[in-house]
Amino acid sequence: MNQTASSVVTDGIALITLDNPPVNALSAPLRQALQSELDRAFRDDQVHAIMLICAGRTFIAGADITEFGQPWQSPSLPDLCAMLDAAPKPVIAAIHGTALGGGFELALACHYRVVAASARVGLPEVNLGLLPGAGGTQRVPRVVGAKAALDIVTSGRQIKAKEALSLGLVDAIADDPSLQSEALAFARRVVADGAAKPRIKDRTDAIEGDRNAPDLFTTFATTNARRFKGFPAPGAIIEAVQAAVMLDFDDGLAKETALFEQLVASPESAAQRHVFFAEREAARVPDIGPETTAIDIAAVGVIGAGTMGGGITMNFLNAGIPVTLVETSQEALDRGIATIRRNYEATASKGRMTGQQVEQRMALISPSLELGALAHADLVIEAVYESMDVKTDIFARLDRIAKPGAILASNTSFLNLDRIAAATSRPEWVVGLHFFSPANVMRLLEVVRGAATAKPVVATAMRLAKRIGKVAVLSGVCDGFIANRLLAPRGTQAEAMMLEGTPIEAIDRVLVDYGFAMGHFQMMDLVGLDVIGRNATERTVMGDLVAAGRLGQKRGAGYYDYDEKRRPHASDLTATLISEVAAAASVAHSPTVGDEAILARLLYPVVNEGARILEEGIALRASDIDIAAVLGYNWPVYRGGPLFWADQVGLGKIVADMRRLEALHGETFRPAPLLVRLAEGGKRFGDRS
Ligand code: CAA
Repeated sequence: MNQTASSVVTDGIALITLDNPPVNALSAPLRQALQSELDRAFRDDQVHAIMLICAGRTFIAGADITEFGQPWQSPSLPDLCAMLDAAPKPVIAAIHGTALGGGFELALACHYRVVAASARVGLPEVNLGLLPGAGGTQRVPRVVGAKAALDIVTSGRQIKAKEALSLGLVDAIADDPSLQSEALAFARRVVADGAAKPRIKDRTDAIEGDRNAPDLFTTFATTNARRFKGFPAPGAIIEAVQAAVMLDFDDGLAKETALFEQLVASPESAAQRHVFFAEREAARVPDIGPETTAIDIAAVGVIGAGTMGGGITMNFLNAGIPVTLVETSQEALDRGIATIRRNYEATASKGRMTGQQVEQRMALISPSLELGALAHADLVIEAVYESMDVKTDIFARLDRIAKPGAILASNTSFLNLDRIAAATSRPEWVVGLHFFSPANVMRLLEVVRGAATAKPVVATAMRLAKRIGKVAVLSGVCDGFIANRLLAPRGTQAEAMMLEGTPIEAIDRVLVDYGFAMGHFQMMDLVGLDVIGRNATERTVMGDLVAAGRLGQKRGAGYYDYDEKRRPHASDLTATLISEVAAAASVAHSPTVGDEAILARLLYPVVNEGARILEEGIALRASDIDIAAVLGYNWPVYRGGPLFWADQVGLGKIVADMRRLEALHGETFRPAPLLVRLAEGGKRFGDRS
């Protein structure tokens, strides 16, 4: 890889260009090259100012994340920032694309920052379970004050050029194409003015007031407690920003470094970094390279305007792609379109969209009651009721209507895609596009590759996912595909433990303590027991609850009783029903005791199912399974997904525990052959990725 810094001197200005594709991450070789270029420019009497600029698509995207966890190589990023702090001549950063993390920190250590109009700056380290470790937590508050700094650093949000200018984080905005020339002109003015060089590290004006507001930090922590729960980074960021306010710059920096070292060694950060790379890895399909041409998708058709069809449609509207939306009745069509509009208007009312944008998106919908309206579509997605008969009928009709070269996709969540494809004369054009509900929000898209699906069709689906803001994970054909199949055993075990007498509150609390947003039974109550329990044949607790009118949160009662603030409380009636159903099914009273034991019962079968999915080749790699769980089921990102977590627990321990559980609870706990092989070989899932 080309990792260089080069410089030319013109008119007394040293123009140092960093070039480390694809995103100019500050790897050790690049840091070394930058250090020597700076050193040379500092010593060169012909040089009166220095400009830092990047080649390629962006300014520096931050530290090189692949180096974390390895021994640090000199110079470190803080060393480079210290070098800039001591620079004998003005240094100007010229920023295009994004200046993120260590990249923005380096820019903040320069005297001036000139940004392209489309550029963004930010400190996204929190998303990797880290804090900015090269002065970001010390410099940003000195510019914007503690309150705004807390928001910027704990959210990791990207700040647009205009906002950055108004906050004082940058000094000037240039037109995109003329960034270099405008920044050079800026540098020349600086030299000509001979003005005192502004140093953020010496400023205290913005934090003066914060010294007398000690509550600021505790209030911020309390207000955001829910959002920060389980993540160690936000707390550390708050501490570091407080240090910026209370200590002098060098002591604050030392505090920041100590906190950074703690975070980088934490399992949470390791998990979040795993997820960062796993998300990008998921896009790669071994037998499909860049030479496989994707099909241009300019017009989409969606069949079914229900909850899924509507959500799916919104993804394409958001990306500016027109959608023909087909339903069987005018009423269903009107209802579906009204729901889409209501969703957009809700977004607009929160100020996250303009009224004009709402109208632009709505105008991209062409409603129709005829499948024939899909004749021109490049991609048709079927999102109707989960019935093989209904779906094969639709695909057979679609086969006669769709133009040659159109991709025919099903949003089925568990039916056999190959059977659906067999209803057409062109199974190679059929693919599964499994969205997760709410489809306009959840970032996972399972791309299901059937036995006949052609490579360009898979390539198109994978690339299209990125275009509509989704992360695609490739799945083979099986019941439930990756995410649903993976998580199903968790629900089965929760319900089995319930019948054995483990309190549902304990089961839910263990899941919430692990990091899920809610427990299994709270989730059932939220979705609605009448919706989930529709097909039950034998007597179940859920069926009895429905019969008693306890349909879930919407009725104020389901597994739990809900108060007016929708907080769950244990219900005596539910407890009685559970005992009755257990007695009727002859389930012996043998509650699982202890959080660790409950967690093992709930999650080891998930790990086991993951091993099977991997071994059967349904998923390409272990990290894809983690991504499916994190993005499809909100598996806590700081646990890294089920297989990353299993590696942390130790596969040997999991196999041993499962063998014990198998003796008690049967086959579900028989360790999958792959799990056993990895454990016996002292290996981890991560070693296979
Ligand atoms: N280090 C190493 N590799 C990185 C990287 C980084 N900081 N940022 C991106 N990459 C890699 C990606 O893994 C990807 O590699 P592959 O092509 O091999 O998959 C490649 O660069 C392109 O990345 P994207 O696919 O994400 O490209 P994009 O155009 O969609 O997004 C981006 C570009 C906005 C910069 C995005 O990559 C991103 O958000 N990167 C991470 C930024 C970040 O978190 N920086 C902080 C680093 S931590 C730090 O700096 C700590 C400190 O203070 C000392």
